[in-house]
Amino acid sequence: MARILITSAIPYINGIKHLGNLIGSQLPADLYARYQRGRGNEVMFLCATDEHGTPAELAAAKAGKPVGEYCAEMHGVQADIANRFGLSFDHFGRSSSDQNKHLTQHFAGKLDDAGLIREVSEKQVYSNADGRFLPDRYIEGTCPNCGYDRARGDQCENCTKQLDPTDLIEPRSAISGSTDLEVRETKHLYLRQSAMKDQLDAWIDSKTDWPILTTSIAKKWLHDGDGLQDRGITRDLDWGVPVKKGDQDWPGMEGKVFYVWFDAPIEYIACAKEWADASGKPDSEWERWWRTDKGADDVRYVQFMGKDNVPFHTLSFPATILGSGEPWKMVDHLKSFNYLNYDGGQFSTSQGRGVFMDQALDILPADFWRWWLLSHAPESSDSEFTWENFQQSVNKDLADVLGNFVSRITKFCRSKFGEAVPEGGAFGEREQELIAELSRRVRTYEGFMEAMEVRKSAQELRAIWVAGNEYLQSAAPWSTFKEDPEQAAAQVRLGLNLIRLYAVLSAPFIPETSAKMLSAMNTLDTSWPDDVAEALNALPAGHEFSVPDVLFAKITDEQREDWQTRFAGTRD
Ligand code: MF3
Ligand code: ZN
Repeated sequence: MARILITSAIPYINGIKHLGNLIGSQLPADLYARYQRGRGNEVMFLCATDEHGTPAELAAAKAGKPVGEYCAEMHGVQADIANRFGLSFDHFGRSSSDQNKHLTQHFAGKLDDAGLIREVSEKQVYSNADGRFLPDRYIEGTCPNCGYDRARGDQCENCTKQLDPTDLIEPRSAISGSTDLEVRETKHLYLRQSAMKDQLDAWIDSKTDWPILTTSIAKKWLHDGDGLQDRGITRDLDWGVPVKKGDQDWPGMEGKVFYVWFDAPIEYIACAKEWADASGKPDSEWERWWRTDKGADDVRYVQFMGKDNVPFHTLSFPATILGSGEPWKMVDHLKSFNYLNYDGGQFSTSQGRGVFMDQALDILPADFWRWWLLSHAPESSDSEFTWENFQQSVNKDLADVLGNFVSRITKFCRSKFGEAVPEGGAFGEREQELIAELSRRVRTYEGFMEAMEVRKSAQELRAIWVAGNEYLQSAAPWSTFKEDPEQAAAQVRLGLNLIRLYAVLSAPFIPETSAKMLSAMNTLDTSWPDDVAEALNALPAGHEFSVPDVLFAKITDEQREDWQTRFAGTRD
């Protein structure tokens, strides 16, 4: 049994996420976690809310609430929606937890001991109109690298270059739009990433199986221009992890907090401690996932994230871990995604454009969304959500192919043999052919799932459903029944067993439906079909079942048009 640690990029606390966010990390991470559990592996799947920094402060101010209260409330909201989407986190933590506070301060202390922190007296942008220092991402301007005119002070969304606010051409306050900005003197801590360049370079070089998209981004920041730059890890803000060195005060750093991008990835680790603490488990239980000196050396660690997160996960976070000199588990595989667009434009949280997770669940069950999003995951390039495509694809794949198969076979059996797996007959050539095809396809499916090829996995799963439908069409037990009821019985027995097989294989994509299928088949047997022929005998003759309700109601043109109009504008 393998042990697999899975983390999804932790979503910002400020507001409910849209479907583009969901498919960029949490949903594919869940797919992988469910698959690995289904294969009998031991999985630790962690996610959390990313609660610090200015976005949280501003969102709380807008909601008229103290920021701590706002975050607690929004964490509850996000946890509930994640749950309703079937995201099967072992723990959904909070970057503002005590565990993360201590661990963040601990890392800063270790990095300082290792000589990897330096103090810098720097100039920071102060907005007279807003009466405050402006954090990087609240300064907008033109990117010096690509010319994009809405680049943020921390990063250009367009070309992914990490920036400093003073790099921006024609900077303005993103809060008020004011250009009345001045530069004031303030002291900050910098992580000496430049001193770790060779170590990071060697580490990246050892990742020979990483996608070129990922390593090339890392290599670019390691080698372009003057090479890897040191990064400021503190901010002049109220809300965040107070700057301390372990549990000691840090002279000169009073009233400052760590930069949100410093403490957020540390939450991946702290989250495991939150998980252990929440159920009274000893530290050894979470350390066996994260400390290579305490059992984590045989863990495989996989991270999921959108492409804009790649530099932080290939450089900044590894620099923190490596620099500590402590034996923390490093990422083994990093799966990143392009962007999902919405109907001819971008999904946008700030503009409220697109479909948000709560709205999606208000109109359709999670499995419709999970299936569409995963089968259209923006892997090799950006992809686009349109209502037409959504309607077409879920109606075809879910209603016509899978739903129809389940309904036909169960209803036919009920009408001719009653609600139990029929006895008699034997599998013939047609059945052997189907078993051979399915055996081949199941192995292919496993290969794609293992490799986190999300779209290809969905295609293969669909092909597995189609094979069953085609079998049913050509075996036609409703005709066979007239001349040879024994043969029809064998065909139906196979069909009913296929439902169980499909439920097991499909569970990572559509867990709710899979559970309904298993419950209709009256079985708790979710064992993986290592041997397809054997798996198709799991439900013996005489085993009782029931006909499930319609699994997927088709989306009508009327509904589609209604939603198209309803989601055309922007949300508050
Ligand atoms: N909150 C960030 C985002 O949504 C992701 C943080 S990932 C972590 O883009 F590594 F910092 F945890
Ligand atoms: Zn740019």
